[in-house]
Amino acid sequence: MRRIMVELSGESLELGYAEAVAAAETLGGQGLGPPLAGTTLATLELPEAGIPLLARRLALARRCLVEVTEGPVEELPAWRPDAEGSSAAFRWVGRPSSGGGDPSIHAAATAWKGAGGTIDLEAPAHRFWLARSGSSRVRLLEEVAAVDRPEVATRRISRLPFRRPIGLAPRLARAAANLAHVAPGDRVLDPFLGTGALLAEAALLGGRVSGIDQDAAMVQGALRNFVHLGVTAHELVVGDAGEVEFPGSAGPFDALLTDPPYGRASSTGGEASGSLLTRILPRWAARVRSSGYVVVVLPGGPDPLTDPWRRVLSVPVRVHRSLTREFRVYRRTPTAG
Ligand SMILES: C[S@@+](CC[C@H](N)C(=O)[O-])C[C@H]1O[C@@H](n2cnc3c(N)ncnc32)[C@H](O)[C@@H]1O
Repeated sequence: MRRIMVELSGESLELGYAEAVAAAETLGGQGLGPPLAGTTLATLELPEAGIPLLARRLALARRCLVEVTEGPVEELPAWRPDAEGSSAAFRWVGRPSSGGGDPSIHAAATAWKGAGGTIDLEAPAHRFWLARSGSSRVRLLEEVAAVDRPEVATRRISRLPFRRPIGLAPRLARAAANLAHVAPGDRVLDPFLGTGALLAEAALLGGRVSGIDQDAAMVQGALRNFVHLGVTAHELVVGDAGEVEFPGSAGPFDALLTDPPYGRASSTGGEASGSLLTRILPRWAARVRSSGYVVVVLPGGPDPLTDPWRRVLSVPVRVHRSLTREFRVYRRTPTAG
């Protein structure tokens, strides 16, 4: 197991930490601690080979780092790196434009150059990041994997062929798919497919995805988005998710991942969202394997799933300027014995 730090991005530290822990768990690791107040660095541990995979899974993070040294600012010059003529860049976490005018960066870069290394800010062989670890202490970290944030941005709603105001942003959809612990080969269901944002992210994580929407235009549109994103849907069905079946597949799902309609919208045929959820979610949750996950994005309100399901996580997140949603995770209560 390797202990690492993950620099979370600013969208939501709470959801970012929950996403990072869930992704680490999927790769055989675990969370060790959320960012301390005023910082963005979460601590995790996972098998060494999982680190690049973790960076590829995460949406609400910037990079994975390992600690090189930690101590009082004035002791950084005592750092004896093994530079071997290789190049490095030094920056402060959260201040990527920080430079050699900063005393700590200057001290670390001086130690590096003293060991025969060079500085290259454009394409260094080593990227080092400094972070405060106390009022006069500093932590020197080396980047071991970077999150490809521009790649997630290529899936932004504005770039998709089929867009609707209900569409969930790909970063939030990816975080939700991570909360569902989607692993390659997993069967993942969204009974309220919409534009397909959640299932697209689940498929990009290797899931075999199944979707339902009562609106045929949504299913056709989601399919256009899947083709555009290069992902395959395993099975898509048009119909009321409280009634339809998937022809030819009865086996259990590994996860249920969904963002149901809110309020008494035209998209629900006038049915109040509370009754829609209690009518439909338990039906499909019952088909999730015993240790599987149910992740639901909700405006709040009562739990749509009851015993044996229990809510294990709830993170409120601002999804648009004036719109807040709770990302909720449910699991079955383990049976005794
Ligand atoms: C909030 S949207 C899903 C948004 C989706 N996460 C996205 O990113 O586009 C809810 C969807 O549920 C569908 N829906 C509403 N009632 C339904 C029902 N009874 N059965 C299946 N789909 C239903 C609506 O047509 C709508 O597309």
